[in-house]
Formats: sequence, structure tokens, C-alpha cells
Amino acid sequence: MLYFIGLGLNDARDITVKGLEAVKSCKYIYLENYTSILESSKEELEEFYQKEVILADRDLVEKQADEILIRSEEEDVAFLVVGDIFGATTHTDLMMRAKEKNIKTKFIHNASILTAVGIVGLELYKYGKTTSIPFNNENVDTPIKVFNKNKEHNLHTLFLLDLDPKNNNFLTINDAADYLIKKGVNKELIAIGCAKIGNEHQEIKVTTLENLTKENFTKYPQCLIIPGDLHFMEEDALELWK
Ligand SMILES: C[S@@+](CC[C@H](N)C(=O)[O-])C[C@H]1O[C@@H](n2cnc3c(N)ncnc32)[C@H](O)[C@@H]1O
Repeated sequence: MLYFIGLGLNDARDITVKGLEAVKSCKYIYLENYTSILESSKEELEEFYQKEVILADRDLVEKQADEILIRSEEEDVAFLVVGDIFGATTHTDLMMRAKEKNIKTKFIHNASILTAVGIVGLELYKYGKTTSIPFNNENVDTPIKVFNKNKEHNLHTLFLLDLDPKNNNFLTINDAADYLIKKGVNKELIAIGCAKIGNEHQEIKVTTLENLTKENFTKYPQCLIIPGDLHFMEEDALELWK
């Protein structure tokens, strides 16, 4: 059996009761550690689960997934994902490969950044396509195209920001705001910076895109939102974070 288990957004204790029961029953526990990060380290998770945790980087999950799948044919295996299991597009592939091999699967969901951004007060139903801003983005235009399309339809845009947890490297809200302005986005637009949503000390700031280039955020991971048309209730909610 291969369990796909969401860990939530903050620390070891955000796992669901069902998720924890599944982890305890598994022989091998993989932690996908390239699409997001938890406050808790691998060692803290191991202590919490009383089990060894195997770090699974992009190479292991995307190129050497056979190791996870072969083990799942014989034993119970947990594949842990920070946030929700389907909050990153890459994990559908592992699910499909497990299905192809007739490996039994179970899915235990959790909170995702894709819904947790609701805290800023913008209606989730009024977001357009989500886009990611990568490192080395000088020649990258997709986020701008996505933003323009969303704006055309008066929809909000969520920008996810690249990260490389292995090397403790994160694209910051400051970098992302800089990138957007350099690519021609109006620096006077209202924009929202969000750092480590779900944490007790999360940081949320509503200001202009220009101000976000210098605002001091201290926590990771981070994301940035540019609202589309605002309902008066959304305007009121944004006031909370000014
Ligand atoms: C691939 S996505 C999210 C994947 C995760 N499985 C989920 O469901 O939340 C990773 C990106 O989301 C954003 N992100 C994730 N967690 C966040 C948080 N707690 N606060 C702010 N941004 C976050 C960052 O931009 C990060 O690079």
C-alpha cells in the first residue's frame, strides 16, 4: 500500500489523526522535500513519529520513483508532502504510476497554501490561474502572461515563489516584486506579501507592489498576491493587514 499523506503547513503536529495513524503503520516513510518546507526538521519528525524518515528530493521522486513503488508492492509505504498532497502538480505522476502497477493507494489530505491564502480576505473563488516565479527569471514571461490574463478577467493572481530547501535558498517576496515591476507590472498596484502562512508568527502585508520590493519579511516559504477587482467586503478584509 502506498499512502499519500499531507502534512499541513506549519510543523510536525499539523498532520491529521488519520495521517499519523497511517505513518505509524508504515515500514518506509518518504518525505518529499523539494516543493515546500515545514518548521520541523527531519530529526524532529523522526522523533514525533518514532520512525526513520527518508528524504525524497526531486530526483528520487521523479526519476527513481521505482524504489518507492517497488517497496509499496510488498510493504506499507508513506509518501509525505508538506501542505496538501495535490497542492503541487508533480505528485499526480506518482499516483498514476502506482495505479498503472496496480499498487493499492490511500490519500490523506491536509491544508494547502492554495486555500490557506483565504486568510488575507480575498475570495478563493475569484482567483484565476496560479503561477510560479522561478529563480533566474530574466527571460521568463509566463507569470506575466498569466497575470495579464487573470487581470483581464478581474481575477486575483497567486504567485508561488521558487524554493530550494536543500540549499536553504528561497525566492523572496522582495525579489518577486522586483521581477514583476521590471517586467512592466504597475508598481502602484495593491499587492500582498505572505510569509509562512499557518505559522503562529506568519507575516502578511498589504501595500503597493513597489513597497513589497523593500518590506522586511523574515520567514519562509513566501508567496505574493495581486488582487483583481475587489468586492467591498474584500476591501474591508485587506484593511486588517495594512
Ligand atoms: C508547490 S507550492 C505548495 C505545495 C504544498 N503541497 C501545498 O499544498 O501547500 C510551494 C509554494 O507555495 C508557497 N507556499 C507554501 N507554503 C506556504 C506558506 N505556508 N506561506 C506562504 N507561502 C507558501 C511558496 O511560494 C512555495 O514555494
